[in-house]
Amino acid sequence: MAFNVAVDGPAGAGKSTVAKAVAAKRNFIYVDTGAMYRAMALYFLRQGTDPKDEAAITAGCREVAVTLGYEGGAQQVYLNGENVTGQIRTEEVGMMASQTSAYGPVREKLTQLQKELARTSDVIMDGRDIGTCVLPQADVKVYLTASVSVRAKRRYQELLEKGAACSLAEIEKEIEERDYRDMHREHSPLKQAEDAYYLDSSDMTLEQVVNAIIELIDGKRGAVR
Ligand code: DC
Repeated sequence: MAFNVAVDGPAGAGKSTVAKAVAAKRNFIYVDTGAMYRAMALYFLRQGTDPKDEAAITAGCREVAVTLGYEGGAQQVYLNGENVTGQIRTEEVGMMASQTSAYGPVREKLTQLQKELARTSDVIMDGRDIGTCVLPQADVKVYLTASVSVRAKRRYQELLEKGAACSLAEIEKEIEERDYRDMHREHSPLKQAEDAYYLDSSDMTLEQVVNAIIELIDGKRGAVR
């Protein structure tokens, strides 16, 4: 039986960095489900689809194939066969993904693929609804969060390092908006699963967070070397 770890939490909580590190330490496949919603969002942006136009989004879902692959252990996401991994990390795509991921047909399409991956492989999967909807039977569930101001500062730092012009106040506002939308949508809103372990990383180092999750995993399945 495949071993499944679910990591949910709001934007900027450090889920992907933490999940990647845990995957490397325990030989899991890391599945970034946000990248799948971002690839769909990129498709809608390219089509000029209005994120409020439910009919157009539903129709678009029939024309899109989002698939995953791995190159040297790094997840690659494909949109209708095109590798779009390098094009989905912008704020514009993130905002669009937050809006278009609220629709049932978008979620149904992507969760099917996520469930299939987890059925056949040991995975650590991060997202918003993994512990609650996609993998309710996951062996370990973590809800990883941090305060809005800490998440905004981390994002600000990342953008500065990339040389991008940005304002901390603007980033804080965008994070609050995304939190609200992700937590209040009708389909699979972001919330902590009842049996998820709550981790607030505001005052923790990356290593401390990774170790806390490794402890949970090893406790569940017995230490792996
Ligand atoms: O984790 P991220 O920032 O890459 O996610 C982008 C958007 O996709 C996020 O605002 C909400 C959506 N998302 C989702 O609805 N469910 C998931 N499992 C993952 C992401």
